[in-house]
Amino acid sequence: MTTSWWREAVIYQVYLRSFADSDGDGLGDLDGLRSRLDYLQALGVDGIWLNPCYPSPDRDHGYDVADYVDIDARYGGLPAFDRLLADVHARGMKLLMDLVPNHCSSDHAWFQAALAGDQDARDRFIFRKGRGDDPPNNWQSVFGGPAWTRAGDDWYLHSFDPGQPDFNWRNPEVGAYFEDVLRFWFDRGVDGFRIDVAHMLFKHVDLPDWTGGSGYNGLAQNRPEVHDVHRRWRKLADSYGRDLTLVGEIWVPTVADLALYLRPDELPQAFFFDLLVRPWDATLFRASITRGLEEIAATGAVVTWTLANHDVHRTASRLGVVEHTSGPPTRPRGVVDTALGIRRARAAVLLELALPGSVYLYQGEEAALPEVLDLPDDARQDPTFLRTGGAEVGRDGCRVPLPWTTDGPSFGFSSSADTWLPQPPWFGDYAIESQAGVAGSAVEMHRAALAIRRAHPGGELEWLETGREDVLAFRRGGLVCVTVFGPEPHTVPYGTPLVSSDADEPAEGSVPGVTTAWFQA
Ligand code: GLC
Repeated sequence: MTTSWWREAVIYQVYLRSFADSDGDGLGDLDGLRSRLDYLQALGVDGIWLNPCYPSPDRDHGYDVADYVDIDARYGGLPAFDRLLADVHARGMKLLMDLVPNHCSSDHAWFQAALAGDQDARDRFIFRKGRGDDPPNNWQSVFGGPAWTRAGDDWYLHSFDPGQPDFNWRNPEVGAYFEDVLRFWFDRGVDGFRIDVAHMLFKHVDLPDWTGGSGYNGLAQNRPEVHDVHRRWRKLADSYGRDLTLVGEIWVPTVADLALYLRPDELPQAFFFDLLVRPWDATLFRASITRGLEEIAATGAVVTWTLANHDVHRTASRLGVVEHTSGPPTRPRGVVDTALGIRRARAAVLLELALPGSVYLYQGEEAALPEVLDLPDDARQDPTFLRTGGAEVGRDGCRVPLPWTTDGPSFGFSSSADTWLPQPPWFGDYAIESQAGVAGSAVEMHRAALAIRRAHPGGELEWLETGREDVLAFRRGGLVCVTVFGPEPHTVPYGTPLVSSDADEPAEGSVPGVTTAWFQA
């Protein structure tokens, strides 16, 4: 039996509008990405997850899809997509797209028809009468403010922005539509999908008020009916016989809830966010890793590790918070020690890359790029910022266009200096190209780690005694991974490491403080 490629794959997430711009309009595009495939191949990733690049009015930067079977002209349209896919495959890499099934854009033809009064079209969304002048229930949008907006006499539900009306998944036409969408892209050759908020789709049938307080609304997500959709999609994907994958973005209260989505006939993969929300603490990291390995592996699935994406603060800043004053664990705010954050982020990702399962890296993570925490308010575009009146600063700071070179009009991102979000002057210090080939750089650490991962077939994880609470060590296959969380170095009996997160030349027999190192077992 051959092992599915995705079980141990390292996938690189491309937030397209911020990756590389080929035509000088300040917005990343598909030919820009294509021009950087040599870099990604040399980095050693197995594939790319492409954030939504369908036609969209960009109320939520592509997560408001106006047409599911086309590519936005600003990114190069379908011809550029086909060129990209061919070049990705020619390099032996995979390409995953992003499916957004909970909602579409208010510009989508169905929603426009619904607004124009077409009853069949209205039944594909969730329109209800209000309670007097008030919305049909008290649900809040994930981005802040009510989850309902008035349209004529009725209100429609939008779990996110008003520009993102929720589909009515109880209408079979919606399910049939998404199966056609999946087929369209699978027939074109894509290797899988990341599924946006895969736990939402179904809402409690009666839409009652939520009385559980702010935050997670259990009536609007994680309903039992959703599992059938994933079963159907899994069957559809498997029918291609190409080992396609589906990776769910699933935020549910417990790992046990998450594991339900990974039953053998459901999704092959789902992000394990449990580790992403942990602060830099050996005990918490170990407990989270153990939860993942035990509870996810019990379903026969592997863990899909991730420390960063386009919705959370970049790891170098998130783990650099030395005094947390506000914000959720995904986007903590407070006093940030960036130098310490970078050390921790590098150590964390090297630890992650040693774990059994697959890993998703977020563009710029390989360069230890920090979050842009101080974007000017008038530059911010995230609906989270706009809908909370600035109380939540939102996600723009991890979406600033990448620095490729130390100088140039936008540090090599575009020929224009006018990028869709402004880059701070210090961005050039983290330029990806300036790290390539430089021993001790974050980019070279990733390249080395990915090469070693490929050369060493995995195996079960076995924890090793370290005698210190702030040091984790485990053996896996032919490797030992040691992470020192605290500042004091730790003596080890293994010689010189194969790779280390410390920028200095590795010393024999010792791992410095706040460092991960891999050794030959
Ligand atoms: C997911 C996406 C996020 C988007 C939201 C609504 O959480 O990752 O970027 O805003 O869904 O589609």
